[in-house]
Amino acid sequence: MTVIFSGIKPSGELTLGNYLGAMAQFITYQEEEAYFCIVNQHAITVPQEAVELRLRTRSLAALYLASGLDPQKVTIFIQSEVPAHAQLAWIMMSLSQMGELERMTQYKEKAGNLHESIPAGLLMYPPFMAADILLYQADAVPVGDDQQQHLELTRTLAQRFNYRFGETFKLPVAATAKEATRVMSLQDPLKKMSKSAEDSGTILLLDSPAVVTKKIKRAVTDSENKLYYDLVNKPGISNLLSIYAAISGLSVMEIELKYQEVQGYGQFKVDLAALVVGLLAPIQAHYERIMAGSELDDILSAGAQRAALVANKNLLRAEEAMGLARHK
Ligand code: TYM
Repeated sequence: MTVIFSGIKPSGELTLGNYLGAMAQFITYQEEEAYFCIVNQHAITVPQEAVELRLRTRSLAALYLASGLDPQKVTIFIQSEVPAHAQLAWIMMSLSQMGELERMTQYKEKAGNLHESIPAGLLMYPPFMAADILLYQADAVPVGDDQQQHLELTRTLAQRFNYRFGETFKLPVAATAKEATRVMSLQDPLKKMSKSAEDSGTILLLDSPAVVTKKIKRAVTDSENKLYYDLVNKPGISNLLSIYAAISGLSVMEIELKYQEVQGYGQFKVDLAALVVGLLAPIQAHYERIMAGSELDDILSAGAQRAALVANKNLLRAEEAMGLARHK
């Protein structure tokens, strides 16, 4: 059985990008030994309100379940409830070099927006992420395209550890979806659709059908009025085509063919909105049931216990290998 690990930050409302890039893949790994984490300690690398963070953590756990993850099969848990994450994170930070962390694209983007006061956690984020993954000896990590570089660093740190202290960690690979590995903003298709930019360019998983339809209708396209994929000259349409392909299961070419005779983008947008609404409606209904029910706490407590068994064992192996444990 392969070991799967992935996580999502409760740092904002989940988007269609999170779903297509990551969650939709999670569901396909339920027969493996899979761990899906709500990475709340990663969320605090930028300031969070306590009340909001608690609510979003719960809401994200409910969305994991609502999107089809079965807690009987996979382990769903909150990062801060398994202290081994922070413990191995410190080890990974000690193995990291400032230069390689400063070169991380996401760090540069986020730190660049903050001007002077940059939280140190933002820089230490990638070794923390490496710890999350290595703690479970994961083989594959389902993520969107933007996490590839962090996965490379994870492999580098695992290799570095193994080289210095003996074979301890497996080298994980990123598993990305076929389509929509990088869903772009509907308003600015050169920018990633992101939780932190809650505007009409971002479709939220909990958006109502009317809101979804309005956002898609207003999506930026181009004036050519011919539907085909061309990322350079038609980034808006190409993004919509990728979303359509990811949800419908059709290839981009099949979609282009389907709309070959249709004038303009109107009908395509109407159909795309129906696809997105059709995808989100059952998830939202399930989400409401979970949030109203009382099972969530038990699932998260059991998940943390199960995760800790594996995490503690691997943490100890690492501590023994590097001389932190009193005995070997
Ligand atoms: P986060 O919370 O930003 O995003 C969660 C997942 O959603 C994917 N994603 C996207 N995919 C396609 N298009 C988009 N516009 C889009 N936006 C986000 C991300 O690639 C990610 O897979 N560092 C991680 C969280 C993390 C983690 C881990 C992931 C912490 N530890 C260990 C895997 C394994 C992050 O910030 O994801």
